[in-house]
This record gives sequence, structure tokens and C-alpha cells, in this order.
Amino acid sequence: MNFLEEVILKEGQALSDQVLKVDSFLNHQIDPQVMQKVGQEFARLYRSEGITKVLTIESSGIAPSVMAGLELGVPVVFARKRKSLTQNGDLLTAKVYSFTKEEENEISVSKKWLKAGEKVLVIDDFLAHGEAALGLANLVEEAGAEVAGFGIVIEKSFQSGREKLLKKGYRVESLARVASLSNGSITFTRNGQEAWSL
Ligand code: G4P
Repeated sequence: MNFLEEVILKEGQALSDQVLKVDSFLNHQIDPQVMQKVGQEFARLYRSEGITKVLTIESSGIAPSVMAGLELGVPVVFARKRKSLTQNGDLLTAKVYSFTKEEENEISVSKKWLKAGEKVLVIDDFLAHGEAALGLANLVEEAGAEVAGFGIVIEKSFQSGREKLLKKGYRVESLARVASLSNGSITFTRNGQEAWSL
């Protein structure tokens, strides 16, 4: 069991067979020590890839991304879900459909912070249906930059996100892969092999 799986088993709560609550360290309160380890792990996985920037989406992707950016020594940019008052000039935009909210949103990043030729590590807190991840990849490609791969803190392997990203040829590194949340218990999978829990 890796450190993150241990934290999830201790702190996480299966709210239903689809939704995992991890408010104590990732989605509301943030545990800096856990985030630091997450950042170190992403940096270890992508250190040899010549990453020039980390890209994420507000809000829960920011903490793990900052830690990864610190470890890799590169800036972190986050896509916005709403246009900010100070956001002007040219924007890169992508449409993202949210299955949980059943609505389509436009995400954006200023062209100033994502440039052609960059090698981008895309990080997010959850990988569910992969819509946010694909939207972020679209922003990178619109900029003429390259997606080096994805760093996902928690993947729900029983949903379609991972498959969608692999099908497009992207590298996907998820630090914890949840196989199932059925009956209130959390089980993990590794390399598509057997599901297990404590
Ligand atoms: P998708 O992008 O992979 O297709 O996912 P989806 O539309 O289903 O998810 C929308 C939001 O819900 C995202 O956060 C995503 O991170 C989050 N989410 C998805 N599944 C879970 C889950 O099992 N547990 C938790 N805690 N979150 C989940 P968001 O609304 O953008 O929130 P935030 O980043 O502002 O915190």
C-alpha cells in the first residue's frame, strides 16, 4: 500500500458507490505534508521529461500542482472556470462538460502563460470521466505546446477518464487508483490487476 492509499483509507469516506469524500486533506482542508509527498511523487515520475510548466484547474488541483512545481522548479498555471476581472487580452479556451453538475463550462488560460514549445505536466485532484483533463489537454494543444502526461492524485478507475486519456495516447500517472466504492468500502487497483483494501 502506498502512502496515499493509506491516507485515503484513514480519512476518506465513500459517500456513495460513485463519490469519495476527501475533505480533510485535498478538497477543503489541505494537508501540506500529504501534498508535499504528492508533489515529490509527481516530480519523481516526470523528472526526466523536460517539463517547463505544470497546468491544473481551480480549485482543488492547485495545492498538489504547487508542490509538484516546487519540486520540478517550474511555474504552475491554473485554468479558470470563470473569467476573472483582470483576465484580459488573448485567452485559450476549452469546453468542459461536468457529469456531476450536468452542465458545460468554458475554462480558460491567458495565452501569456501557456506558450508554443512548452512541455506541460497536467495535474488534477480527481480523474473521473476525464472531461476536465481533456479540456486542459485541449488548452495545451491550442497553445502549440505539448502534453508530457497527466499526474492524477486520485483516479476512480471504475469511471471512463483513464481509458479516454490512454486512447488519445497520453501518459497517465495516478497516485491512487480506486477500484470500487461499493457498500461504503474503498478498494484500490494496481496495473489493472486485482482490487484490494485493508
Ligand atoms: P471529470 O472532469 O473527470 O469528467 O469529472 P466530473 O465532471 O465528474 O467532476 C466534476 C468535479 O467533481 C471536479 O471538481 C472533480 O474533481 C470532482 N469529483 C469527481 N469525482 C469526485 C469524487 O469522487 N470525489 C470528490 N471529492 N470530487 C470528485 P470541481 O467541481 O472542479 O471542484 P474543485 O476542484 O473546485 O474542488
